[in-house]
Amino acid sequence: TARRPLIAGNWKMNGLKADAELLAGGLASRYKALQKPAFDMLLCPPATLVSVVAGHIAGSGLVLGGQDCHASEKGAHTGDISAWMLRDLGCGYVIVGHSERRADHRESNAVVKDKAQAAQAAGLIAVICIGETEGERDRGEALSVVSEQIRGSLPAGATAQNTVLAYEPVWAIGTGRTPTPDDVAEIHAEARKVANQVMGGGGESLRILYGGSVKPSNAVDFLGLTDVDGALVGGASLKVDDFWAIAQAC
Ligand code: G3H
Repeated sequence: TARRPLIAGNWKMNGLKADAELLAGGLASRYKALQKPAFDMLLCPPATLVSVVAGHIAGSGLVLGGQDCHASEKGAHTGDISAWMLRDLGCGYVIVGHSERRADHRESNAVVKDKAQAAQAAGLIAVICIGETEGERDRGEALSVVSEQIRGSLPAGATAQNTVLAYEPVWAIGTGRTPTPDDVAEIHAEARKVANQVMGGGGESLRILYGGSVKPSNAVDFLGLTDVDGALVGGASLKVDDFWAIAQAC
């Protein structure tokens, strides 16, 4: 099955309205100008900018996502937002289980699984993040950690259509350091195998992104790999030229 590449920008906690206009507006006009885009481009701004970005990308073909959601549809959860709220604003995706959420908010695989389930129930595609720490990599545990995260974080009902996996080694995020393409290829192949088991098939259609210090200069190293179906980009997604250049690598 041909998997359509997905280039996703995670703005993290960056951007005010004026930045969103430049960034989303700039990308929207470039994407719209493509005759037949061969990749999907996803913008995940902070929650405060989701509506703003929705306005700037309307009609462009770009897709929109949140960076996190609560596991419940609604209720007494001060400060949280639900997958249904994101959907209401025009999102098609939401990132869940980013390593920064797992670390800063102590989100376990079980929590991530509940969030992914909520996202899928709301009609969103859950971008489920996995990845080992530096210590785990040094101890030779990267493959087993990633497998365990997949088994623990994919909800019942996850399919290749409502799920995207994002492999982000924690030590490569925002550091300028990256695994070798061979290491990424090994992890992605294993991730596809495990996800296929968990989902009961369909692994061949599942999109698996690489994330962690993806730049225009290294994008082709990763996006050219068989089992890498796109990128989840942090820092370099905050500049129109850099993010666009990364997309050109797929
Ligand atoms: O979600 C994005 C990743 O955490 C990668 O961030 O591209 O700044 O290393 P980065």
